Amino acid sequence: MSLKKIAILFSGEGSNLENIIKKLHQKTFKNLSIEVVLTLTNNPNAKGIQRAKKYALDPVIVDHTLYKTREEFDKELVKIIKRYHVDLVVLAGFMRILTPIFTKSIKAINIHPSLLPNFKGANAIQRSFNSSIKQAGVSVHFVNEKVDDGEIILQSSFDKDGLDYQAFCTKIHQIEYDIFPKAIIKVLKDTSNTDK
Ligand code: GRF
Repeated sequence: MSLKKIAILFSGEGSNLENIIKKLHQKTFKNLSIEVVLTLTNNPNAKGIQRAKKYALDPVIVDHTLYKTREEFDKELVKIIKRYHVDLVVLAGFMRILTPIFTKSIKAINIHPSLLPNFKGANAIQRSFNSSIKQAGVSVHFVNEKVDDGEIILQSSFDKDGLDYQAFCTKIHQIEYDIFPKAIIKVLKDTSNTDK
């Protein structure tokens, strides 16, 4: 039996954070056991804080506005994460651009609400909905120093035909809740720790 520890970083609503906790925290999959040992947010007002507290996983708050540079903020993140000896860091709606200080020393994955490489960056759901491309979807990928750019771990797509914006958003989130936990399990099965 192997026990893998994960950290979840988030900035806002935290619905993916809660979904991951519900589906993976203290759960066993064949010979893989998963423990969420750290939740962390950069936003003291994130709704996800209350969600994490329901599971006694009170988030560490690192307010990015208190740091002069992205690098100083990232140094603090790395320092905290290293204390927990996690096998993987999961970015679940963590709305910060990360510098090489973070990306070169931490193994992390991110979820993005588009079929990458289409619609990298902000407002991806809106831009994907508005585009003439008939397929939309969700991607989980490794994190590198470029935004929404690392190697793809899992993608799932659907046909946009006939969906209004509300139904489109619902579909995106349903897919996120389905593939993010699967991608985490997939990565943990061949990961030893966060050190690159
Ligand atoms: C998700 O749509 C995710 O794909 C994107 O940010 C959103 C986070 O939502 N990166 P939530 O905070 O998990 O509800």
